[in-house]
Amino acid sequence: MGLITLSGLTPSNSGIHLGNYFGAVRQWIDLQDQGGAHYFIASYHALTTVRSAEVLSSNISGIAMDYLALGLDPEKAVIYRQEDVPEVCELSWILSTVTPMGLLERCHAYKDKVAQGLSADHGLFAYPVLMAADILIVRSHRVPVGQDQKQHVEVTRDIAGKFNQTYSDVFPLPEPFIPEGQTAKVPGIDGQKMSKSYGNDLSIFDSEKKLRKNVMAIVTDSQGVDEPKNPEGNTIFDLYKLVASEQQVAEMAEKMRSKGIGYGYGHAKQELFEALLEYFADARSRRTELEANSNQVEEILQEGARRVRPVVDETMDAVRSAVGVTSRR
Ligand code: TRP
Repeated sequence: MGLITLSGLTPSNSGIHLGNYFGAVRQWIDLQDQGGAHYFIASYHALTTVRSAEVLSSNISGIAMDYLALGLDPEKAVIYRQEDVPEVCELSWILSTVTPMGLLERCHAYKDKVAQGLSADHGLFAYPVLMAADILIVRSHRVPVGQDQKQHVEVTRDIAGKFNQTYSDVFPLPEPFIPEGQTAKVPGIDGQKMSKSYGNDLSIFDSEKKLRKNVMAIVTDSQGVDEPKNPEGNTIFDLYKLVASEQQVAEMAEKMRSKGIGYGYGHAKQELFEALLEYFADARSRRTELEANSNQVEEILQEGARRVRPVVDETMDAVRSAVGVTSRR
């Protein structure tokens, strides 16, 4: 049997941003050709931040369209919504009974919140256990994620090991999959790591107007149009490298370094904006088509739910008999 791959994004915002794409989704697309790929929408995880039913359900269908528009292919990968596998909540409880508190206390989402002096709810604390359930319910070996999720996959390994040791060998130990050379950190428009929670993201499917506005808001130093600028570590240049050709990148570097040619950050931003539109042109037009065909999207998700069902049932049978809770069968 081949390797099982699983990953997902939390629909805590309305659209996939450049950090999601270059940090994770691009790897998912590469891996789907190898078979055994599962990509889902982590709706229950989003409940830790989204508290409006309307917003959440529109985020969920939005992320589904983003996945498909960017090239996740339902012929190659099983694409589904977490709520179509509600057994993850059952599994999450069972796993939580073998999860040491200390393990979760070290997890960054919870720890950061507490460090900021904010009160965290139990959902945020238990978030990594639900994530473990997502991964283990399909008996995944490989979890392609961005750097920020690596810790959670390591926690999943520990939990799976704990379960296997306490009961019997039900789960393979999954590994985070972060291909070398692809871990480039994607800066947000303020130069920090791109993240929706920092409000510094560039959403791939925003309107041209909004995208342009966000690109123009990229924070730079104050070198004027005729002054030489250092492309290294420059946010515009770092983002441009992701979406422009080698030649375009070399040209921008040269223009930035030159003195007295009247090339300012505004020009560089305009070039970045155009390169973004070009790089994502196909995806953006597919996204528009999908919006007009929401039935098709719904069918794909339901088909994904049907396809993931056999492995879910099989895992849950094994788990329930391992722990001795089997009356429903
Ligand atoms: N926490 C992940 C994120 O926000 C989403 C997620 C939930 C996930 N369950 C997962 C990712 C299981 C990989 C595997 O990006």
